[in-house]
Amino acid sequence: MIRADFVLRHAGQLATMVPTTTDPLGRITGGALAARQGRVVWIGPDHELEQQVELDGDQLDAAGACVMPGLVDAHTHPVFAGARADEFLERVSGTSYQAQQGDERGIPRTVRATRDADVDTLLELAQRRALRFLANGTTTIEAKTGYGLDLEQETKAFDVLRGLGRRTPLRIVPTFLGAHVVPPGVDRKAYLRTLIDEMLPAFETRAAFCDAWCDEPAFSPAETRAILSRAKALGYRLRIHAAQLAPGEGPQIAAELGASSADHLEFATPAQVRALAKAGTVAVLCPGANFTTHGPRPPIEAMREAKLPMAIAGDLNPGTSNSESLPFALSLACVNWGMTAEEVLRGATVHAARSLNLEGLAGCLRVGSFADCIVLDLETPEAIPYYLGVNRVVQTIAGGALWHPS
Ligand code: NIG
Ligand code: FE
Repeated sequence: MIRADFVLRHAGQLATMVPTTTDPLGRITGGALAARQGRVVWIGPDHELEQQVELDGDQLDAAGACVMPGLVDAHTHPVFAGARADEFLERVSGTSYQAQQGDERGIPRTVRATRDADVDTLLELAQRRALRFLANGTTTIEAKTGYGLDLEQETKAFDVLRGLGRRTPLRIVPTFLGAHVVPPGVDRKAYLRTLIDEMLPAFETRAAFCDAWCDEPAFSPAETRAILSRAKALGYRLRIHAAQLAPGEGPQIAAELGASSADHLEFATPAQVRALAKAGTVAVLCPGANFTTHGPRPPIEAMREAKLPMAIAGDLNPGTSNSESLPFALSLACVNWGMTAEEVLRGATVHAARSLNLEGLAGCLRVGSFADCIVLDLETPEAIPYYLGVNRVVQTIAGGALWHPS
């Protein structure tokens, strides 16, 4: 007998996201799963559970509802204070996102608000965001710093992420984004020196990844190369915000340096897409940011052709995508970009997990994976994008325990 401390029973469709020859979502009809110490120890048809599993713990009855792995959001900026609703509304009336970047507006405005907030305030805000992630079905997030932009303030952001990891069952994968933009009032060359010589070495043990934004309001290709090459030499794995607002070398740099992910990519060329696929990089697409900045559709066909894995991320941030709902991002990717339900579901699970080096652990349900799953008030997972901005997640299980919002 397999010993378990949690079981979930009577799933109508249990989508494991481990593809079979007949089903890319690897569904078990009438499924069940058992977990012990936060990991899946058994998964299969419900009628076989009792002969194989001995339970000492909680049992959850899905009552025929659909179950799938907890969603994985591979691009979020959850440590910030303040809001920029007025900028959102100006964009609706025709102002461009680029035109909003100034000393008092855009990212610098959030940098000021975040610097003015103490750790407890930021932690409280981040905790409320974590609650919304979990309620909307996300159990793992990649979480960037990037609104502190000096040694002390970025340290504060890492402290917030550590505190968040202790206070919520949401899995947090921290990324250092000191290369978000040059902070207001600081000389460009001086900032690059501090970033490369002081901040990168200081945060290597605290971050799983280093990210940089290679686009006109942020860093040039030469600057991005310098930052990310140094990060790589220090042992960071890499992510990049690339070709979000204009064509540029960002995607190439990602491929050259073997980045784990290249994100946004609206303006990536077919050659760059092929280079990314060859390098084993995952494309992390951000439909929410694309939607509110009126960006063009990313080159989805070229990505399909090159077999570049596409993750779909929520990109929670106060400027371009203030949302913790990955299901809403999936709706946008389907409707605005013509992605299929299968593509977006894999994008919010297995491909996102792969970009975080969590392949086989998060975003899928199999023996040994995290016991992170969601119960949906739906008959099939493919229906998720059909429900627009309405949360159909009824229960979230994180680390083999039912999560209770409190
Ligand atoms: O992913 N591209 C850069 N960073 C964010 C926007 C951040 C902000 O506007 O505060 C993004 O879209
Ligand atoms: Fe971002």
